[in-house]
Amino acid sequence: MKLFLDTGDINEVRQVADWGIVDGVTTNPTLIAKSGKRFRETVLKICELLPGGDISAEVVATDYETMLKEALEIASWHEQVVIKVPLIESGVRLVKTLTDRGIRTNVTLVFTLPQAYMAAKAGATYISNFVGRVDDIGGDGMEAVVQTVEMVESYGFDSEVLVASVRHPQHVVQALNARAHVSTMPFGTMKQLFNHPLTDSGLKRFLDDWDKAGLSIFERESVS
Ligand code: E4P
Repeated sequence: MKLFLDTGDINEVRQVADWGIVDGVTTNPTLIAKSGKRFRETVLKICELLPGGDISAEVVATDYETMLKEALEIASWHEQVVIKVPLIESGVRLVKTLTDRGIRTNVTLVFTLPQAYMAAKAGATYISNFVGRVDDIGGDGMEAVVQTVEMVESYGFDSEVLVASVRHPQHVVQALNARAHVSTMPFGTMKQLFNHPLTDSGLKRFLDDWDKAGLSIFERESVS
């Protein structure tokens, strides 16, 4: 499963880029607005920090003609850019047009299997299935993910299912169990994936024991 960071914050991208295991970044208008920086400048900086990664940047118009203009503008910025498009009628039409032109897309705000099906039919590169927002209103966000993976795999669509609106590591566990293709998450959640108290206490004990014995990895004396 690919691992994407969900952010508009360049400093967060810089930190995860150092790990060498992050495959891309998803932004959205809210995250870009929160960053306080210009859109193009932010997207280009993220591309530079994560060479080869897929960087999703979203159109903000809702009528087809303007969405197309915005999409072509954003796509011209960098080859790593993936055009993020909301799952509305004009959005599906736009995804089909962009697919036909060889421009990659990420269909966002997908909550149900029928919506995912429309995105897959249009040739979406990624289908962003939001889980947290469904859980927030008392539903089971992961249900549609399981159904969408099944649909994409059994019908042979090229789209990859991207689990979005991830709130905690358990969502990542569920995404892995559902055999989702991608998961995107905030910086805080991604950092939580490292954590276990037994890892911390175990490491402390290893290092304390090592120190007490006065050992060194670089010592040259032979053992008799
Ligand atoms: C995905 O691409 C979205 O940017 C994101 O996952 C939305 O998450 P939220 O529901 O926490 O805003």
